[in-house]
Amino acid sequence: MTEAVPASAGGHGDTTHGDLSRVDTGNAHIARVYDYWLGGKDHFAADRAAGDAVIQAYPGVITTVRANRALLARMVRYLADEAGIAQFLDIGTGIPSANNTHEVAQSVTPNARIVYVDNDPIVLAHARALLVSSPAGATSYLDADLRDPGPILDQAADLLDFSQPVAVMLMGVMHLISDEDDPSGIVARLMSAVPPGSYLALSHPAADIDADAMADAQRRQNQMQAEQVTFRRRDEVARFFDGLKMIEPGLVRAPEWHPDTQSEAQVALWAGLGQKA
Ligand SMILES: C[S@@+](CC[C@H](N)C(=O)[O-])C[C@H]1O[C@@H](n2cnc3c(N)ncnc32)[C@H](O)[C@@H]1O
Repeated sequence: MTEAVPASAGGHGDTTHGDLSRVDTGNAHIARVYDYWLGGKDHFAADRAAGDAVIQAYPGVITTVRANRALLARMVRYLADEAGIAQFLDIGTGIPSANNTHEVAQSVTPNARIVYVDNDPIVLAHARALLVSSPAGATSYLDADLRDPGPILDQAADLLDFSQPVAVMLMGVMHLISDEDDPSGIVARLMSAVPPGSYLALSHPAADIDADAMADAQRRQNQMQAEQVTFRRRDEVARFFDGLKMIEPGLVRAPEWHPDTQSEAQVALWAGLGQKA
């Protein structure tokens, strides 16, 4: 079911959505495990146990998640600044962290409009932090599942003008869509709804970087976490961009995408930005 949280403009992000009764504290969930790896404070014992098991298999997970957040900020800045994008559909938002999409986008383009989407109740409970928009812009939040893009697109149209370019952001979320759920079909459905000039921003854990350790990390995560993960090879991730024009430097390791610092860190994450012609 898709639940919309009203849009906020003019800085009035004062709606409370703190229904924690749906939060399953006994099992690990990716939004909270990710928050644990990032050094946040919204996690429970089960999340920490799963997070630690993955760290044991692949210690680079910590640098990888940090690299993903830094990448998100660089991509949003590029989109707002160099590509002139003022509309963002950020699916698989995660628990608010530093440099959320609206903060980066509106620091460049104050009237930017952002629709956030996540299906975890802990993220819904934090939606208020995502609804504090700049006065000129607007943000909204949808409690919805990426595996069913139709309702997402329907409700996002309340805030976004689909006759104008939109950046569809799928950062660190497609590995939570299994092959049986047709991940390429989902991306194609989303990109078919946005006009030429729109973008797809995507990052994805790599099955073919530090392959043995990543395979072990995937196995442990799938044993201990409610949401199953599928890490993918570069050629598999590239297929999500079928029909789009890749922005330089193409599909690369996350730290190599428009780097602002030199990083030799261990990061098993593919990242790319494609534009619809
Ligand atoms: C690893 S976090 C990534 C957060 C953020 N995009 C980032 O890059 O920092 C993945 C997020 O996707 C959400 N998610 C997982 N499966 C989803 C689905 N089927 N529909 C919507 N959100 C989903 C999780 O709840 C979690 O908040």
